[in-house]
Amino acid sequence: MQQEMNIGVVTVSDRASRGEYEDLGGPAIEAYLSEVIDSAYSTTRRIISDDQSLIENTLIELCDRQHCSLILTTGGTGPALRDVTPEATEAVCHKMMHGFGELMRQVSLQKVATAILSRQTAGVRNQSLIVNLPGKPKAIAECLDGVFAAIPYCIDLIDGPYMVTNESRFVAFRPKK
Ligand code: MTE
Repeated sequence: MQQEMNIGVVTVSDRASRGEYEDLGGPAIEAYLSEVIDSAYSTTRRIISDDQSLIENTLIELCDRQHCSLILTTGGTGPALRDVTPEATEAVCHKMMHGFGELMRQVSLQKVATAILSRQTAGVRNQSLIVNLPGKPKAIAECLDGVFAAIPYCIDLIDGPYMVTNESRFVAFRPKK
């Protein structure tokens, strides 16, 4: 029997992790996933501060122990001194998937000139695809709309569970065998 997909949702924010403001990014990612995924999946949520080793350890735990096929982070991608999510992602990944960041910035630039301030990237660690999203809740759908069609096939290629998408929302792109 095909195992259920686990998806990690990681909010990286000093203030959200201290409870100074409500985490809106994590729920926005969860809402997006429930709209586009039709197959069974569960999510594992984390809210952590902008601390590089904490981000790295969280990503490693979600990849290696929680066996998340996909991990979506939100926040910490900009130029501020505390923004280190891309560095943590690169440190734990075995392969960088530069096309995700390139395409997300390209689609985001149609919406907002400050999209160039996001250093968001993506990469693969073993059987997990990690994708960085900016911290602004509205950026989450804007970025995922650009790249989500390629995510199911990327997970196929790293031997993860088969993801079925809601075809009225998204047709997953899988090249014919
Ligand atoms: N991308 C999209 N699609 N929509 C946005 O509103 N905001 C930008 C950028 N990318 C934005 C976006 C801004 S203002 C910043 S500073 C960077 O993402 C980095 O955000 P982060 O540090 O919260 O990750």
